[in-house]
Amino acid sequence: EVLVVDKWISLEEDENIQKAGMWISCGEVVALPTETVYGLGGNANSEEAIEKIFLAKGRPSDNPLIVHISERKQLSELVSHIPLIAEKFMNAFWPGPLTLILPKTEQVSEKVTGGLSTVAVRMPDHPVAQAVIKAAGVPVAAPSANRSGRPSPTTAEHVRHDLDGRIAGIIDGGPTGYGLESTVVDCTRDVPMILRPGGVTREELEEVAGVVEVDPALISDNEVPRSPGLKYRHYAPDAPLTLVEGSTAFLQEKIKEVEEEGLKTGVITVDELIQEIHADHVISYGSNDDIKEVAAKLYDTLRRADKLEADVLFSVTFPKEGVGAAVMNRLEKAAGGRIIKEE
Ligand code: TXA
Ligand code: MG
Repeated sequence: EVLVVDKWISLEEDENIQKAGMWISCGEVVALPTETVYGLGGNANSEEAIEKIFLAKGRPSDNPLIVHISERKQLSELVSHIPLIAEKFMNAFWPGPLTLILPKTEQVSEKVTGGLSTVAVRMPDHPVAQAVIKAAGVPVAAPSANRSGRPSPTTAEHVRHDLDGRIAGIIDGGPTGYGLESTVVDCTRDVPMILRPGGVTREELEEVAGVVEVDPALISDNEVPRSPGLKYRHYAPDAPLTLVEGSTAFLQEKIKEVEEEGLKTGVITVDELIQEIHADHVISYGSNDDIKEVAAKLYDTLRRADKLEADVLFSVTFPKEGVGAAVMNRLEKAAGGRIIKEE
């Protein structure tokens, strides 16, 4: 049974937050808003709850979950040792869209970590997420609340579309802010390494840590990603998506080629170009001048693209700077690596 809570007012007393917390502590799974995307939360101490999360999402069991906390003192039950660099990142970015990979304690189930000896931990910066974790009284394991392979949910409606009937409840806290998942950083190495680009940029991390490496698999197709989740097809709309890097004229040529085969085309572009492109359907991520807006609307736009009934989808690309690096990482995944570049 899905309970949709429409509005949250006073979080401490809110009955629905108390209810969600109780459900989680009792081993049920509940979708909740965070500042990045909606998560599907379950009691990290309950193997049964963890199994429910994997089942509801249809997620491969070797893909580990992030454990969410509301207070730093919860780290002691999860993490065996906190490297200095991790401490610096927490001071700078918690609560916020940064997930730290740290050595796990015995207490953390391998069901949570996909058999790894490390655990992913994050303190979300969203009043509803914090209130639910507090009400649950336990660390909350939460992957993004989408069916495995689909774009992550940035609204309660997205969650409902993917998981209705498969979970105990959804807390509706409105659209999420960043719209992209947290940055995942491995802090168990001498030099910290970004395993998944996200809300906190490499540039911001380097201001705190000096040098920060990036998983070579994020740059080359010949490497296996260190973050298990990144080896799976992800974020993909149903129609095949191809990224097109180049001029509008070049994109228009590609559209024409496909239309000549009698196929319906859908194009995802930016506000500034929406009038210039001619295709069966044209939609926009938002303004080209505001990559944060593009990030916030990215998954909703990919989900809207699904509804266009286009046979073939094309998308514009963005410079891989700042948040653009995370946006392009998700778009490349959604396109399954299909990208054509103008000579
Ligand atoms: O913003 C977010 O991070 C959202 C919200 C709900 O917090 N959560 C999220 O979870 O995106 P999920 O499960 O969709 O992605 C977690 C990523 C996966 O790529 C997973 O493989 C990686 O983190 N991960 C988790 N534990 C790991 C570990 N011990 N070592 C390496 N990667 C890990
Ligand atoms: Mg996910």
